Amino acid sequence: MKISLRAKLIISFLAVIIICGLVATLVAIRLIGTGIISQAQERVRTDLNAARHIYQDEIQEVKAVLDLSAQRFFIKDALLENDVEKLKRELEEIRKRESLDILTLTDPNGQVIVRTRNPSVSGDPQAQDELVSLVLSKREVIAMTAIVPREELIKEGADLAKQAYIKFIPTPKAKPSTETEQTSGMMIKAAAPVLGRDGSLLGVLYGGTLLNRNYWIVDEVKKTVYKGVKYKGKDIGTATIFQGDLRISTNVKAEDGGRAIGTRVSEEVYEQVLVKGLPWIDRAFVVNNWYIAAYEPIKDIKGKIIGILYVGILEEKFTDMRKRAVTMFLGITLTGMIIALIVSSFLAKAVLRPVKQLVFASGQWAKGNLDYRVKTTRSDEMAQLGETFNLMASSLKERDDKLQEYTSQQIMKSERLATLGQLAAGVAHEINNPLGAVLMYTHLALEDLEEKDALRQNLEKAVAETSRCKDIIKGLLDFARQTEPKVEESNVNEILERTLGVVENQALFQNVKITKVICPSLPQVSMDVSQIQQVFTNIVLNAAEAMEGKGELTVISGMAPDSEYIEIEFTDTGCGIPPEDCEKIFDPFFTTKEVGRGTGLGLAVSHGIIARHKGTIEVKSEPGKGARFIIRLPLKRKDD
Ligand SMILES: Nc1ncnc2c1ncn2[C@@H]1O[C@H](COP(=O)(O)OP(=O)(O)OP(=O)(O)O)[C@@H](O)[C@H]1O
Ligand SMILES: [Mg+2]
Repeated sequence: MKISLRAKLIISFLAVIIICGLVATLVAIRLIGTGIISQAQERVRTDLNAARHIYQDEIQEVKAVLDLSAQRFFIKDALLENDVEKLKRELEEIRKRESLDILTLTDPNGQVIVRTRNPSVSGDPQAQDELVSLVLSKREVIAMTAIVPREELIKEGADLAKQAYIKFIPTPKAKPSTETEQTSGMMIKAAAPVLGRDGSLLGVLYGGTLLNRNYWIVDEVKKTVYKGVKYKGKDIGTATIFQGDLRISTNVKAEDGGRAIGTRVSEEVYEQVLVKGLPWIDRAFVVNNWYIAAYEPIKDIKGKIIGILYVGILEEKFTDMRKRAVTMFLGITLTGMIIALIVSSFLAKAVLRPVKQLVFASGQWAKGNLDYRVKTTRSDEMAQLGETFNLMASSLKERDDKLQEYTSQQIMKSERLATLGQLAAGVAHEINNPLGAVLMYTHLALEDLEEKDALRQNLEKAVAETSRCKDIIKGLLDFARQTEPKVEESNVNEILERTLGVVENQALFQNVKITKVICPSLPQVSMDVSQIQQVFTNIVLNAAEAMEGKGELTVISGMAPDSEYIEIEFTDTGCGIPPEDCEKIFDPFFTTKEVGRGTGLGLAVSHGIIARHKGTIEVKSEPGKGARFIIRLPLKRKDD
């Protein structure tokens, strides 16, 4: 699949944004979650403190009522006068006024004198009761939470026993129990000694409130701590008093809408609070909703754990809060992503615009439109690149123009040469035969002449000039013939040696020092030996002529640096070639030699031969200092 650069850029941008967004979202969700939960837990902890204060206040209230009542003179007087009826009347009035469930007076031995709620039952001993016995011995006011057994409740009033009685309602998470009901009750109780004017103990007054099905405390907690606030129709805050693990007073609602009396605490909380005596703060499933809950033990006067005080805040409010925060955060992240997507798409477009321009420009140049230029309006790296591209196009164009000019020149030159060659060949052919006849008849005429004939000298001149014409014709034919080389594997060094061997003995070379720097390990090359020898001969003869028979000729053979050619160099110390002539010396009939001495065909023929061998011949020269001819012959012929 082909993905565009722009898509790739956008995808990369997006990947970075999505990763960052996701990480930020996850971290935020976590922080929000833990933040909200810990905030809720902190809140519920303070709420539990408040609930405890309300509970303690209630105990103190009962204690204060008992303390004050026990000091009333009418009790002391009535006790001394044994006026039971008065006691009944007055005490019942106090009980009603102070909304106590029970108010009972005993004698100094702990035997009941008056039981206000149930006057018919009296005379029974209460000295064994934990609270009464403590007051009897310590003679001070004492208050506590206590478990009151059913039989005692019945004595205080059968209706109390009925109020205390609770049947267990099975709850899935509760600790399994064999019991199915609760017959005893939990009471806030206080007792105070009734002392005579002389300080003697006249009796004990005890009273209290039954907590079972008494909702005053829990509703007070709800009212003062939670102000009765509701969330989605449910109370936001709830409070409960447990007797053991059983809900005896609560404002948690059951399925039927009534109070969830009779349900029990989960086993987890049971272990932590009732068994280990530690507070428990966590989310908890209470009856039918999740709450952030706090539980702590309620202890009796001896420190024994007899119940639990609970407050809980509806978790739904916090989970909704969290959901809202998370949704908001996700929304922000998503919006950010969309904005980033749009921005990145524009960015990618902006970044890629110059690239597209470059691609378009390259296309134009590839099509040959080298005049096209990239428009650069900015000053960044892309603009620099554009400039470089333009520069490249300029130099390409320049080179292209030069190449075109050179090629057309070359074409013209070769066309010229070809025409010239054809012409020369035609003329040479036509002239060659008549010249042969002239030479033959001149020779015949010479043979017929006497040794001392005056004509003889003239005829001999005619023979010499005609021979020179034949030489020129031969050169012309050589140039024009352009025969394909008859190739054979041969060694350049051997041809060089042979060429030099032939010329060395000529008079022209008497005063020429020939230095040979021969590379002995030259490979064999395919070539036409006689043609190559002709080339070498032409060059060394030219050199000798340029040095006017006096100087040094250095011949070097070796491999070209690229190892694809054999290189042969001829360096002389002759007159050299002026720069303007360097281009012309390979043209046919170009010669600087006086008329009759040179035909100007030597280098033209040599050039043709080397070209047909797929090699090159070039000249380097500084006028006055000599010339250097460099011939390169390919190791492998390109058409092989
Ligand atoms: N080594 C050299 N030093 C100086 N000039 C040279 C050298 N070789 C060639 N030339 C110049 O190049 C010209 C052309 O040389 P070329 O061999 O083609 O013809 P030529 O030597 O003049 O006549 P031909 O070789 O036909 O007798 C020469 O006339 C000479 O001016
Ligand atoms: Mg020559």
